[in-house]
Amino acid sequence: MNVTVFGSGYVGLVTAACLADAGNRVVCIDVDPERVAMLQSGHCPFYEPGVDALLTRNARAGRLRFTTDAADGVAHGELIFIAVGTPPQEDGSADLQHVLEVARTIGEHMNGYRAICTKSTVPVGTARKVRAAVARALQARGATIEFDVVANPEFLKEGAAVEDFTRPDRIIVGTDSARALDLMRTLYAPFNRNHDRLMAMDIESAELTKYAANAMLATRISFMNELALLAEKVGADIESVRRGIGSDPRIGFHFLYAGCGYGGSCFPKDVRALQRSGEEVGQHLGVLAAVEAANERQKHLLFERIDAYLGGVAGKTIALWGLAFKPNTDDMRAAPSRVLMESIWAAGGVVRAYDPVAMDATRRIYGERADLVLADSAEAACEGADALALVTEWRQFRSPDFALIKARMRRPAIFDGRNLYDPAALAELGFDYQGIGRAS
Ligand code: UGA
Repeated sequence: MNVTVFGSGYVGLVTAACLADAGNRVVCIDVDPERVAMLQSGHCPFYEPGVDALLTRNARAGRLRFTTDAADGVAHGELIFIAVGTPPQEDGSADLQHVLEVARTIGEHMNGYRAICTKSTVPVGTARKVRAAVARALQARGATIEFDVVANPEFLKEGAAVEDFTRPDRIIVGTDSARALDLMRTLYAPFNRNHDRLMAMDIESAELTKYAANAMLATRISFMNELALLAEKVGADIESVRRGIGSDPRIGFHFLYAGCGYGGSCFPKDVRALQRSGEEVGQHLGVLAAVEAANERQKHLLFERIDAYLGGVAGKTIALWGLAFKPNTDDMRAAPSRVLMESIWAAGGVVRAYDPVAMDATRRIYGERADLVLADSAEAACEGADALALVTEWRQFRSPDFALIKARMRRPAIFDGRNLYDPAALAELGFDYQGIGRAS
């Protein structure tokens, strides 16, 4: 099939690359010429395992190309995906201007039937707005051309995006058109083997499903984080509690990990946007207000504990392991590490940080500063440190050489924001250890 994807961010690029790899001819449009040039030379603008290889393979095979030329893209694809950014506005609602701009462009240039799919995370009602924007642009040209809109939210996780796209748990297709549904079934057939994972539904339900999924996961995390704080106060261990409740299949083990808060480009933004959507129609979502507040509190926890332990961090050096908001990405958006670093700096402390891939991203955000040392290795980050904070659970932090670390630190104290280590084992090794919700 001929497919066009507007937007070469996480969602757009992974969609374009995976669809090309399944044999479709894909054109991916971006307004940023530098980004397009980078993609044309086969480089992924962000760290995501597997994407580089897909780009190279499919560009060589002539199935995937990048351009800034929107008219070219609209002429190419019978199926057009809108995967441009929907940044949060001041009030938390999603800013739809880029999505609607693309819709208008499609209406201005289309010359035959098009199925127009929203893949960006967009609030309920967006597909209808897209339909209206396309119709208006067609009307302005005096054209009558048939088209359909489809809500087809994406559920990929950063760090596992290619795997999530090619082996999805579900493929949500919201549309009121049999023709568009047929096209979507054909497009997704290569990723829909064994079980039928495609769920057809009305447009509004598809749009709400996306927010509901992220909000549900964020709720689990915030609830576990609050339980962890309670566990500490009553002498329980949240890791035991997690295993105890996770074994109930109605609860399950996934996304039950207490820690130093959730970050990333999705959960914080989507939790806020869903609350906002509720307010717009007079439906208060009180649970989500609490989820957000609990997460904000949790992101400050490591700093508060380190500050209390050291009697103030002014003049102290804190080693920090993990900068990205989670492992296997270099994404620093809403990362808990940022709250910790910024709090340390505000209090006059120095950060010695190490992350396997997010060092450049950190440099881009904070630039050169005297109170930030980006160390060459995890061990080097510990040199002369008064405390070590583990913020992101990269695999390589799982079993470090604790003797070496202890020798390098000024004070052997570990603040484990992801409950990676065994409190008893670390105490045995002579560390002062604090996890999140661990019995001490
Ligand atoms: C999330 C969803 O998991 C995807 O299904 C969704 O498609 C995506 O948002 C999106 O809307 O685009 P992502 O933001 O990549 O994916 O990251 P997650 O793996 O969900 O992690 C989010 C945050 O929650 C991380 O900061 C992580 O450390 C934290 N987390 C996760 C916990 O604190 N505890 C857990 O048990 C799990």
